[in-house]
Amino acid sequence: MPRIQLPEGVTAESFLHLIWQRRPLLMQGALAGFRCPIGPDELAGLACEPDVESRIVEENGERPWQLRHGPFDAGDFARLPESRWTLLVQDVDKHVPEVARLLDAFRLIPDWRVDDVMISYAADQGSVGPHVDEYDVFLLQAQGRRRWCIDTRVPPDAPLRTDTDLKVLTEFSTEHEWVLEPGDILYLPPGVAHWGVAEGPCMTCSVGYRAPAWREMLTSWCEHLIERIPADGHYRDPATSPQAASAEIAAPTLQAVDELLERLQHADAAERHRWFGRFVTEPKPHLAAEPVDHPLDPDSVHEAFRVHGRILRHPYCRTAFAAIEPDRLTLFANGQAFDLPDVCRGFVNAVAHERELHFGYLEEWLAHPACRDALARLHNAGVLVFPDE
Ligand code: SIN
Ligand code: CO
Repeated sequence: MPRIQLPEGVTAESFLHLIWQRRPLLMQGALAGFRCPIGPDELAGLACEPDVESRIVEENGERPWQLRHGPFDAGDFARLPESRWTLLVQDVDKHVPEVARLLDAFRLIPDWRVDDVMISYAADQGSVGPHVDEYDVFLLQAQGRRRWCIDTRVPPDAPLRTDTDLKVLTEFSTEHEWVLEPGDILYLPPGVAHWGVAEGPCMTCSVGYRAPAWREMLTSWCEHLIERIPADGHYRDPATSPQAASAEIAAPTLQAVDELLERLQHADAAERHRWFGRFVTEPKPHLAAEPVDHPLDPDSVHEAFRVHGRILRHPYCRTAFAAIEPDRLTLFANGQAFDLPDVCRGFVNAVAHERELHFGYLEEWLAHPACRDALARLHNAGVLVFPDE
């Protein structure tokens, strides 16, 4: 899959410095010749699967902007009107390997930032209404044409309609508009109001990025802190003197509380960074790869790899790596951390980067016991799977 073609005068550097997370950018022909790996029928088929997250939005349903969640069945599709509805399917990259490959085109943004590829099919005039998203998105026109209207001036507290479960702005005035054709991409940073209306039936692939809420981040960090604190630790009084007012929480107690909380929360940079790598590679709860039933030792995994010739990253898995501590690299996979010596960088990078690993490519690395061990642990954790598993 070729990288997206940035418009003339925009380099990868200028995109990252001036546009990413800052301003919208229309990229006409960014993936010229793009053919959507799946069609409307396959998308509708996915929306009927129980473990696939899907929605149908009907502009003039029983209620305005009626939102229904899947799984759907053939009857749901048969009952839809001629126009003004949209089917949206989340995480198509996890379910269709060819769609996962589309992500390679967007690798100017680090992989760990990716959330998913959502694919929508809209009947003529179909849209999900004017709205604001909290994440960056590349809107790739996959089939047909869609008119995108955007407004960068909408404040964060702009009023939303109260007669629908969908977040639809009560007001929208177009600042810029474009009609996208297959292969065109519109990049939108968080907070830009947008409204995409199908001109005839069309399909759009949204490459969306993860932006965990501060509260979500802090919840996870605090959970991490709690897990490493001894379960039998309890508050103890400092040395105290008799109090004139027994209802008072006295100064030495308040000071002891400060000291206790500081001690319990103390973490060095390595611990924070390790937590972060685990946090951002956690899979979505309904898309978790399970550990194998019968774990194998490193020699058996190595031999099985040699026989199969390749091993695949489970499509639900998220991987990344970071240089956190001197002389080693930490490989993150599905919220777990694996430490390897930094001389194994080629191995770590290949495992974190590739969806399919070939024995011939990794053979040399596997002479290193740390790599053999990591390969076995990744296999046993369900991150790397042999083609017949
Ligand atoms: C769509 O694909 O219909 C909607 C995408 C979006 O507005 O974020
Ligand atoms: Co949107």
